[in-house]
Amino acid sequence: MSGIVILGAGQAGASLAARLRSKGYTGPLTLVGEEDVPPYQRPPLSKAYLLGEMERERLFLRPESFYAENDITLRTGCRVDAIDCGARSLGLGSESLVYDKLALTTGAVPRRLPSGIGGSLDGVHVVRTLRDIDRMAPEMTAGRRLLVVGGGYIGLEAAAVARKLGLDVVLVEAAERILQRVAAPETSAFFRALHRGQGVDLREGVGLERLTGEGRVTGAVLGDGTELAVDLAIVGIGVTPATGLAEAAGLAIDNGIAVDAQGRTSDSHIWSAGDCASFPRNGVRIRLESVQNAIDQAELVADNMLGPGVAYDPKIWFWSDQYDVKLQIAGLNTGYDRVIVRQGEAAVSHWYFAGARLLAVDAMNDPRAYMVGKRLIDAGRSADPAVLADPATDLKALLRA
Ligand code: APR
Repeated sequence: MSGIVILGAGQAGASLAARLRSKGYTGPLTLVGEEDVPPYQRPPLSKAYLLGEMERERLFLRPESFYAENDITLRTGCRVDAIDCGARSLGLGSESLVYDKLALTTGAVPRRLPSGIGGSLDGVHVVRTLRDIDRMAPEMTAGRRLLVVGGGYIGLEAAAVARKLGLDVVLVEAAERILQRVAAPETSAFFRALHRGQGVDLREGVGLERLTGEGRVTGAVLGDGTELAVDLAIVGIGVTPATGLAEAAGLAIDNGIAVDAQGRTSDSHIWSAGDCASFPRNGVRIRLESVQNAIDQAELVADNMLGPGVAYDPKIWFWSDQYDVKLQIAGLNTGYDRVIVRQGEAAVSHWYFAGARLLAVDAMNDPRAYMVGKRLIDAGRSADPAVLADPATDLKALLRA
């Protein structure tokens, strides 16, 4: 009994398994995951779940009965140590699991601070797994002093939750501005003002020198020499794709497990999808860290494992919640040369252009701008920047134009 094995039981792995069954695959199907819980949603971990506003049970993508009912062998708490491409098998300790086809949905792992600068002290947390949050949440109590390292979405969302829970928050961003990797200065400025208005001591252009403490973190020294007293730290300094097993097995790696447009790796029996996979798009290789990509790419791989050979054409969107602001992002802004600001009363949107081509939009509490931007971008259409910037423009009319 071999069949299809899916390695990695996160969003992509769960979507892939479900899709194989819904598309009529009746052969053996095994979903292997290292964590000891069934597949769950990660986005709420740094938002509603950390805040204590979402029950644990609601995180799970499917009830546990789903796997048995669909004849999916779900193996949680199961660590794979090697892939043997020649034998088409996975090594799990002394056991081996053979496959006809393998899907790698191993995700990404958070970067950690080195132990030499205090990264392993108690009270130092990352935000990736349910276990991370279950360890962190009891420490998130009013009046405690939290240091957030990194001003990407993870650090900013954690800072927002912490302020709501009444912690004192210092956030340090080593780059010149928060969100520098993913957004324009206009969007950074919006979120800087939001967080400062909520009482976060937000410092940019200053990295962390080291965390200090005996056993448990009690302080921090910043790059500019400032010393802070700290009760706990949350580290949100990015993720790296989980490529170790694929690399050791000799698969091509290029900013992730390299797949072709159909999701196939350099070994024709092995496929990959989600945060760990890099794929070709418009002549360059990209990797997307988003739920939508995990679902869509996994479903495409499932379909292609069963036959049709369809190329991936991602519809790109992301979101973030911070305080009462919902940020929705459509498209990828890579290569933009200007940003148009559309200022409403309570809503604002930032539109990214390369020449006359609309690339992306960041919409802050502006679902209409997001919806219109997404539909234009997904259809490969643009809009006149001057018309967009005019608050009197009826955005929906742009879709009819
Ligand atoms: N000190 C301070 N800041 C640092 C340091 C450091 N030593 N090292 C890195 N940073 C900063 C980076 O400059 C960057 O702005 O941390 C930030 C990390 O941001 P991202 O790379 O966007 O990663 P993160 O916020 O951790 O999110 C990881 O999870 O939910 C997803 O959308 C999220 O895909 C992203 C991933």
